[in-house]
Amino acid sequence: MRRIIVFIGAPGAGKGTQARLLQERAGIPQISTGDMFREMKTLDTPLAREVQEIMASGKLVSDDVTYRIVKERTSRDDCRDGYILDGYPRTSAQAEQLEELSKEQGMDVLAIEVDVPRGELMKRLTGRRSCPECGEIYNVYFKPPKKEGFCDLHPEVELQHRSDDREDKVATRLEVYDEQTKPLLEYYASSGRLEKIDGTGDVEAIYAGLSKLV
Ligand code: AP5
Repeated sequence: MRRIIVFIGAPGAGKGTQARLLQERAGIPQISTGDMFREMKTLDTPLAREVQEIMASGKLVSDDVTYRIVKERTSRDDCRDGYILDGYPRTSAQAEQLEELSKEQGMDVLAIEVDVPRGELMKRLTGRRSCPECGEIYNVYFKPPKKEGFCDLHPEVELQHRSDDREDKVATRLEVYDEQTKPLLEYYASSGRLEKIDGTGDVEAIYAGLSKLV
């Protein structure tokens, strides 16, 4: 079925971890707006600098800029049989823009809530490290790399700690989630397009539950 799978969950809920598994194992392309914005770091343009500043503050990039990159990326060939959106939509305006886009692309939308209690998120985020080469996600508490500070898949590449994973920035990101993104759960639930998974516990067990829904 040609479908857009949307992951909704607080920062650190494990959206990226599960979306990457789904991409690897089910062959559905994962489109992460956060990753695409982070990739803009290497560009020296006013827009790229503005995006980096907004991300570092924990706030959201404008709906129009975000929509433009989502539309461009999802119009590529690899998305024609469906794709995963990790971190989009995040505002009601973005949800409406996606509604239009999905109609143009002739696809249905299924939203999946990844639910994790607030108390666990801080440790997940402050402990997160990722590989700048392949994007593999680690955690110093829950999923440490074999050699401290280096990627298992690229042993010569040093892992990075995201600047917005500092405690003060995490607090802002959680507030933004509550105010702007959480209401989307009701938006998709009211049209019968929301499924929920428990995002706590073993990553493989969570994936097993997820794979039954998609
Ligand atoms: P983005 O990159 O999307 O960040 P986020 O939504 O805050 O989500 P995270 O990537 O922090 O968490 P995740 O749920 O993917 O968790 P992960 O799998 O890594 O966005 C960053 C910024 O970009 C935004 O703040 C905004 O400025 C901008 N932006 C992005 N999209 C936008 C949009 N649509 N509109 C406007 N602006 C936008 O896991 C977290 C950690 O937990 C990892 O270390 C992982 O190993 C660990 N972990 C995962 N699963 C488990 C488990 N089951 N048990 C224990 N640990 C686990």
